[in-house]
Amino acid sequence: MHNVAITGTGVFTPKHRITNDELVVAFNAHADLFNAQHADAIVAGTVDAKPHSSADFIFAASGIEQRYVLDRDGILDPARMYPHLPARPDDAPGYMAEIGVDAAQKALAAAGLHASDIDLVICAASNMERAYPAVGVEIQQLLGAGGFAFDMNVACSSATFGIQTATDMIRAGSIRRAIVVNPEICSAHLEWRDRDCHFIFGDVATATVLERDEDLTAPHFKVKSTRCATQFSNNIRNNNGFLRRTHNQMDDRRDMQFMQNGRRVFKEVLPLVSQHIADHMADAGIQASDLKRLWLHQANKTMNDYIGKKVLGRVPDAGEQPNILQDYANTSSAGSIIAFSQNSDDLVVGDTGLICSFGAGYSVGSVIVERG
Ligand code: COA
Repeated sequence: MHNVAITGTGVFTPKHRITNDELVVAFNAHADLFNAQHADAIVAGTVDAKPHSSADFIFAASGIEQRYVLDRDGILDPARMYPHLPARPDDAPGYMAEIGVDAAQKALAAAGLHASDIDLVICAASNMERAYPAVGVEIQQLLGAGGFAFDMNVACSSATFGIQTATDMIRAGSIRRAIVVNPEICSAHLEWRDRDCHFIFGDVATATVLERDEDLTAPHFKVKSTRCATQFSNNIRNNNGFLRRTHNQMDDRRDMQFMQNGRRVFKEVLPLVSQHIADHMADAGIQASDLKRLWLHQANKTMNDYIGKKVLGRVPDAGEQPNILQDYANTSSAGSIIAFSQNSDDLVVGDTGLICSFGAGYSVGSVIVERG
């Protein structure tokens, strides 16, 4: 069995940004338009009027201040309210592959590797741009990587589940080096016309290079242990899928985008994640006092504050549990990897940290790492 290390990470950040204020102005204009268009039905009581959103609510409920997106104009057009990403010919790179390759190239540069050194590409994300061929295979080809590639989807936990999958293959010896790529175009499956969730997501891509922990001279992170768990829940759900046409559901339906019962998610996921981390640490022989850093899933600041306190047994010091959600919003599987990528260089040899993601499924994945 081989030991495994993370030797590089990369983050692609879209150039367009939407602040809470900008988002709320667009949403409220959309709500006014909707209410005017449905005035008679609203008076008759057959359609509910859309209430306004509020930037103060968004920040207080989530900690989010802004998000990055691939397209701003479509989202902020009150008559449209979703991004405009023009269709591309089949022989041009897809959107997920394009942003995934950018993140992957940054991760390879950080690891001091060439794409040809890689023999596994996993594209792990909460949605795939098409049914087939796998986006991972397209990324492999665009990068110039060898070996093989595949896609996997465990929603917000896709990155940590991908890291465990790659780690296990490197450990067993079937591959030497892998790159786990998380292109998250959440703006395309978020319902921007629903004030309960319109502020939640942003777009980004992350990538993580993993390889055998042999003769590594540059700073890296040893993968000490990984753990994944799932428990079925309908509280975060998206009904879009390949059977849609067979169901005669090609109309503009609410359930074909992200839906959640946010309160239930909040209540049910917190104990699940806290217990998962506690069990993982206990089995790995890690005490709370051993942990120098927690890189958590980036959905909600209050959730992270709760988990950080539960895991460490005290309120985390500044920087011990870095959040990036104020800048990026929830970027699904990529969130904990952005936090890790942007807040890990200062750790010294021997320092231990824990990456943890959680979300739809429900799913929770944790990775214990040690600076080497
Ligand atoms: N602006 C103003 N008011 C809003 C609003 C908005 N954009 N969205 C909702 N409200 C209102 C609600 O209608 C509700 O009003 P009511 O009390 O009169 O019924 C009130 O604010 C509280 O709404 P609620 O949905 O209960 O808010 P919350 O405190 O639970 O926060 C979330 C909402 C989504 C931020 C929070 O539940 C959450 O983060 N949950 C977990 C999310 C998560 O991790 N998801 C994983 C996704 S992968």
